[in-house]
Amino acid sequence: MLDQSIDDLIPDHGTYADLERQHQMYTDLRDGDPVHWTEPAGYRPFWTITKYNDIMEIERQQDKFLAQPRSKLFPIEFERKMAEATGGKAHFGRAISQMDQPDHRIFRGIANEWFMPNALERIRPDVDALAERSMKEFRALGSDMDFYHDVASPYPLRVIMLILGCDFADEPRLRAATNGYFAGNDPEMSGGMDIIKATQEYFAYFEPIAAERRRNPSDDVASIIANTKIDGAYIDDGIVKMYYVALAGAGHDTTGSTSAGGVLAMMQNPSEWDKLKADPELTKLAVEEMIRWVSPVKHFMRTAAVDYELRGKTIKAGDSLMLAYPSGNRDEEIFEDPFTFRIDRKPNRHMGFGFGPHICLGMSLARMELQIFFRKLMPLVKRFELTGTPRWTQTNFVGGLKHLPVHVEWE
Ligand code: HEM
Repeated sequence: MLDQSIDDLIPDHGTYADLERQHQMYTDLRDGDPVHWTEPAGYRPFWTITKYNDIMEIERQQDKFLAQPRSKLFPIEFERKMAEATGGKAHFGRAISQMDQPDHRIFRGIANEWFMPNALERIRPDVDALAERSMKEFRALGSDMDFYHDVASPYPLRVIMLILGCDFADEPRLRAATNGYFAGNDPEMSGGMDIIKATQEYFAYFEPIAAERRRNPSDDVASIIANTKIDGAYIDDGIVKMYYVALAGAGHDTTGSTSAGGVLAMMQNPSEWDKLKADPELTKLAVEEMIRWVSPVKHFMRTAAVDYELRGKTIKAGDSLMLAYPSGNRDEEIFEDPFTFRIDRKPNRHMGFGFGPHICLGMSLARMELQIFFRKLMPLVKRFELTGTPRWTQTNFVGGLKHLPVHVEWE
């Protein structure tokens, strides 16, 4: 039984810091009202979509369900503040996640090729070296640590810094911006920044990088974005900066939350830990199960362009919809024993990366990073033991564990 109205629970950042509560809420919705008209205090209303097949149906139809103008769930008060900060707009600049056709195809197309599995092989040795560095730091920590903060989180941030060609000395600055961007209402993660301040901080950081890439292009993705020309002219500076923000933001905590959440899930299911240790060939499947299990991206929003019938409900043109990926990933009609963590789950057609034309641009990079990470981690550790209470970030958007205190028994 949930003690808060379901409509208020859905946008409440605190819900996502309490996994039992989050999953109970979504299980109730999938059972009772999977296409749920939601009118929370302080938010404009929206439909909450919790069934896997419904989320897919919406994601597939980019012409009927638009990313603009409401791509994320913000309180009315915050939307007002954002409009003030941006001169009346819903956001600072357009990232590809906020674009519809034809722009989405054009601008996603700029970096799409760079993120394809074969193209990524080019940076595999560098990603491997960053994972190796993280393992060295891990071993140097002794036997007790906060695995999320000390190990899982820094590694994907460095991978992002690598692909954007940043100076590694800037790690604390970028980490602070990313934490602020995705902090939800978690004061510990925000460090006093909200998404507005974090975006301004990102812009201040990325502006000189974009200019430098135009002067001295290399083969990193930052150079490709900065030097693309459409109809003979460089693309708009705002779009270049938002592209960098999207990569820096989307690529960091998603991946760190997944590896920390995966380690916790294996601590709670020791037979899965043993299975993976005994057979490293299972790493690929294990990573997919970790992404399904953690679902670090909690939602994206769409806006209906036309009236649309879904499970007997009429979604009106102009209504917004919240796509609940963690719920789709526990859908009993799709996954056998969805609440069981099984590293060799097969098939595992999870929607942790979303679906359709907006499907995660960085998914092959995330997979590569996570597979390399676990291939190196597993031989080092006999087992992990939890030494305190794991804590999750209070955020309804992107995040997962923020503290994972562990004791390591080394091999
Ligand atoms: C485990 C790690 C990750 C997860 C679970 C994840 C999940 C997601 C999800 C659910 C979406 C929305 C898809 C949709 O609307 O259908 C998305 C979009 C996106 N992701 Fe990821 N992501 C991860 C890692 C990354 C990385 C490493 C990068 C880049 C370095 C990245 C860049 C992006 C971008 C740019 C988009 C917007 C794509 C578009 O709208 O066309 N993500 N991701």
